[in-house]
Amino acid sequence: MNPVHLDKTTGYVAALQALKDDDRLRGLRPRAGIDFVSNDYLALASAPRMKKAIATALEAGTPVGSGGSRLLHGNCEEHESLEAEAARFFGAETALFFGSGYLANFALLTTLPQRGDLLVLDSLVHASIHEGARAGRAEHSICVHNDPGSVENTIREWRAKGGIGRVWIVVESVYSMDGDVAPLEELIATADRHDAFLVVDEAHATGVYGEHGRGLTAPYEGRENLIVIHTCGKALGAAGAIVTVPRVLRDFMVNRCRPFIFTTAPSPLMAVAVQEALLILQQEPDRQQRLANLVAFTHRELAIRGSRSPSHSQIVPYIVGDNARAMALASAMQSRGFDIRGVRPPTVPAGTARLRISLTLNVSEDDVRAMLDALFEETKGKCQ
Ligand SMILES: Cc1ncc(COP(=O)(O)O)c(C=O)c1O
Repeated sequence: MNPVHLDKTTGYVAALQALKDDDRLRGLRPRAGIDFVSNDYLALASAPRMKKAIATALEAGTPVGSGGSRLLHGNCEEHESLEAEAARFFGAETALFFGSGYLANFALLTTLPQRGDLLVLDSLVHASIHEGARAGRAEHSICVHNDPGSVENTIREWRAKGGIGRVWIVVESVYSMDGDVAPLEELIATADRHDAFLVVDEAHATGVYGEHGRGLTAPYEGRENLIVIHTCGKALGAAGAIVTVPRVLRDFMVNRCRPFIFTTAPSPLMAVAVQEALLILQQEPDRQQRLANLVAFTHRELAIRGSRSPSHSQIVPYIVGDNARAMALASAMQSRGFDIRGVRPPTVPAGTARLRISLTLNVSEDDVRAMLDALFEETKGKCQ
């Protein structure tokens, strides 16, 4: 054995072993079974119209890669066309397209809040928001989940201690692991009262909620203290994220946002796909309705089985608690032909390991009924 090699890897081996001992070791596995795991809520990822839009663009000469940063060669007419259309569709002053939702959140939070500002994060916001807050210039506080009173107190206490900068409240509209919805009306009022910005990650609401899938922030879009992140890899069936912002903040990001400037622009084909998805939302509203019907059906079927989901949305958490039991249940469901995955800490709080059941138009009511029957056979209805 080579002792040098051993020295180089022992720390990693020990860390992996510790995860294994805690039933938290992750691994990649292929897709298999009926889809109760993806975020492809409207089944747009494989929709013929999406494929055709890409094929037509390719035939018309759209390049596969952008070839550079948006500030150099990479700024394609497809990006500009998407941003103009997205601003119109969402009712915002401007929009800026990023390669992913993770990047958009990180980029925004490391660019706009300045030294001396305060970021107030809901405790359950996505990892990309925590990372952006940690890497940025402003100090940040975590407040109680979905509790505008906690946001208010956090801001007041900070001001009382001499905080004089701007406040940025950061939340999701539909929470990714719990499927519950933020009290946006109250949060807007809190932001207004404190002359703060409200940043809303609509990753799991865009395409699903609001008129034509404009999201839960649709009634407030265009306000000068609102910034919204509409990710494009979930209900929009593509990849990337559209950030809707007042013009001055878009201009600031184009000039100062390092994750926007120092990276190759997203493929123009992806911009074409996202723009097609926005068109589909407007021209095929039945998709949104069919998903709403499936969600209502599933919650009714849960109630019939004596179980109540903490959410009312397309994200149905089935809380198990223990890490190993959650993974064993996921694996039993997979053996029965359902693609359902377990989610463990740190993605969710300790002691709340769960199955994150996701409802999409890739499944039918019969699939849902069969999945719930299997789940209740496996658990004898004991978990919730
Ligand atoms: C709430 C939330 N924000 C952001 C992201 C990241 O988006 P993307 O997958 O486009 O990087 C996710 C994805 O898991 C999410 O759930």
